[in-house]
Amino acid sequence: MIDQLSEYFRFMRDMGELEIPLPVEQIQFFKKAHPPHSNKENDSKSKSESIEQLIEDARNCKKCELYKTRNKLVFGCGSLDSEIIFIGEAPGRQEDLTGIPFIGQAGKLLDKILEAVKLQRENVYIANILKDRPPNNRDPKIEEEHACLPFLIKQIQIIRPKIICCLGRVSAKALLKINYSMKEMRGKIYSYQGIPLIVTYHPAALLRNAKLKRPTWDDFQFLLRTLDEIRCKNNNP
Ligand code: URA
Repeated sequence: MIDQLSEYFRFMRDMGELEIPLPVEQIQFFKKAHPPHSNKENDSKSKSESIEQLIEDARNCKKCELYKTRNKLVFGCGSLDSEIIFIGEAPGRQEDLTGIPFIGQAGKLLDKILEAVKLQRENVYIANILKDRPPNNRDPKIEEEHACLPFLIKQIQIIRPKIICCLGRVSAKALLKINYSMKEMRGKIYSYQGIPLIVTYHPAALLRNAKLKRPTWDDFQFLLRTLDEIRCKNNNP
């Protein structure tokens, strides 16, 4: 084989060829011997390594008092290759016990919404502004948000979603530094570090007021339409 190849290369050189078009069999042989690196595979690997490191940093974080009362850190869950990140407020009791975001009553409703719009929980990414549960589910304090936000920012930078969906006013306010009502924020496309961001109701609000289900459905349709437009733009810059 090597003798044949040398002869072939010499022949081509003598014919004045500076680049050698390999015969199909040789290309197949070469491809088998040197499989191309899968960028997606490498990308996912480095994403998961970066996230693991970030989880470790969050677990050791003592910038606010919440680590003292938590059972489990609730860092985030889902696909690191997700096109969408959903961002809630803070873990509740079930989340604190399991370490999984949106697993209690509000989470079950979020699952139903995702299912209704044909999104699978494992294919999207779900996180919160706070990674630890505030005692008795009280509202996050501003200093807790400031302490925890750098983890979410890094999380977003690692995952690089095509769109962010804030679930509720608290997460929109924390990320966008604006203090608008839900009515003012819904149906608009904001930008967070260049990533389109939309806002919809928190599922817990829907548990308290079923009339919000219809506008939430509209928001999810808006989210998916916007995502489609982003995909189209990326394919036809
Ligand atoms: N509410 C949130 O904002 N996040 C959760 O993970 C659960 C309930």
